[in-house]
Amino acid sequence: MVEVRAARPTDLGRVVAIYNHYVEHSAATFDLVPARPEDRIAWFDEHSRGGRYRLLVATEDDQLVGWATTSPFRPRAAYATTVESSVYVAPGAVGRGIGSRLYRSLFAAISEEDLERVVAGVTTPNPASVRLHRRFGFRRVGTFHRVGRKFGRFWDVAWFERSLQDGEAASVRGRAAALRPGDSADSTENFRGAPSA
Ligand SMILES: CC(C)(COP(=O)(O)OP(=O)(O)OC[C@H]1O[C@@H](n2cnc3c(N)ncnc32)[C@H](O)[C@@H]1OP(=O)(O)O)[C@@H](O)C(=O)NCCC(=O)NCCS
Repeated sequence: MVEVRAARPTDLGRVVAIYNHYVEHSAATFDLVPARPEDRIAWFDEHSRGGRYRLLVATEDDQLVGWATTSPFRPRAAYATTVESSVYVAPGAVGRGIGSRLYRSLFAAISEEDLERVVAGVTTPNPASVRLHRRFGFRRVGTFHRVGRKFGRFWDVAWFERSLQDGEAASVRGRAAALRPGDSADSTENFRGAPSA
């Protein structure tokens, strides 16, 4: 059974391992060099205090199979009401609804935060990611062309946005407990019947 919860410090190694797979084999992330878990401790801490920036993980039979975050979009203060979301599912677990489970819980978790907008950049082509974002109410606002070079070629990034004041996040607002680190974010029971976008 797949469960989604806030990340714990002991998850960091597996979170980084999933990410590193995509660093090495995909343009979904523009990092070029695999990270070490110790490099990501500050990042992990920033996403583990509750508030706007979250790190949720999906587990299946106690194995961590994916994670999703909301992170700062840009550093200047007025951007604080916008977060950037991202999601990575382990290569052997894609296409089985885990990304959707993570996003559903992630947007429920931040639904009470002082946020207006979520944005996401998707290196194209990435049909699964485009469908996932559309499913959760994201609208494609445009494409930056050839903004990253990886594997010897340039890549386009499509940008998506959604409000947190409507769509699926709003539909679960009120039902979602304020999901704090250590709390279960998406037991089957909590979200059974939660509508899909
Ligand atoms: C993108 C990603 C997070 C999606 O998670 P997932 O668990 O595979 O996706 P889900 O099974 O929840 O499916 C989400 C939607 O994508 C569709 N989808 C899944 N795999 C697909 C594929 N290979 N091609 C086209 N659509 C696909 C599903 O049908 C579903 O759409 P629907 O709700 O309209 O039917 C996952 O595939 C992944 O980690 N990919 C590699 C890393 C990555 O690209 N991350 C995103 C960075 S922006």
